[in-house]
Amino acid sequence: MKQVGILISGRGSNMVALLDAMGAGKVPARCALVVSNKPSAPGLERASERGVPTAVINHKDFPTREAHDRKILEAFREAGIEILCLAGYMRLLSPVLVEAYRNRILNIHPALLPSYTGLHAQRQALEAGVRFSGCSVHFVDEHLDHGPVILQAAVPVLPGDTEESLSSRILKYEHRLYPEALQLLCQDRVSIREGRAEIDLPLSDYRALLKGLIDLGDEE
Ligand code: GRF
Repeated sequence: MKQVGILISGRGSNMVALLDAMGAGKVPARCALVVSNKPSAPGLERASERGVPTAVINHKDFPTREAHDRKILEAFREAGIEILCLAGYMRLLSPVLVEAYRNRILNIHPALLPSYTGLHAQRQALEAGVRFSGCSVHFVDEHLDHGPVILQAAVPVLPGDTEESLSSRILKYEHRLYPEALQLLCQDRVSIREGRAEIDLPLSDYRALLKGLIDLGDEE
């Protein structure tokens, strides 16, 4: 069983998807600590309800990003954390955390990377007029929404979509995608070669996995 730590800043719906997948035994891991940088994050209570220890490490209490990250690193190390998952964590990581957990930090972003990084990814997709968008789980490096992509899910942009309707269509797939990616990592099926993530699965299993990660517009 891998020991997983989760970083949040807000409602934590992706965190819940991960906790539930671990709790159900779908992902061979256990979450030993959820850390929020925001004391008011609703996700904290959702973690506690599921019996997961939580901590608030408020960035406002630290003079620099590095000092804040050092405290987070200390908390995760004490809890024996091997893999970090960012789930709506609204801070850029400093090298303090990235180097300590190199290739063991995952993030989920609501767009098909490398398109539409940063805030309002769904609005960016609508403004660009693309026909498909989606979400990506990737390894985290020093740059914003950057690092080798592990898995992606694709959803259509439909006529009349608003930022809200597209966001909720994507979010439904985020909740499927993130546990799948964490499962692959925990099963040691993800490796990095020449800056890209490779997934060690028989092609037929990989195709079956992808089938569950594509919305052809007939789900609503
Ligand atoms: C999600 O859309 C995620 O992709 C992005 O921030 C949002 C967090 O939502 N990084 P939640 O806190 O997981 O509900």
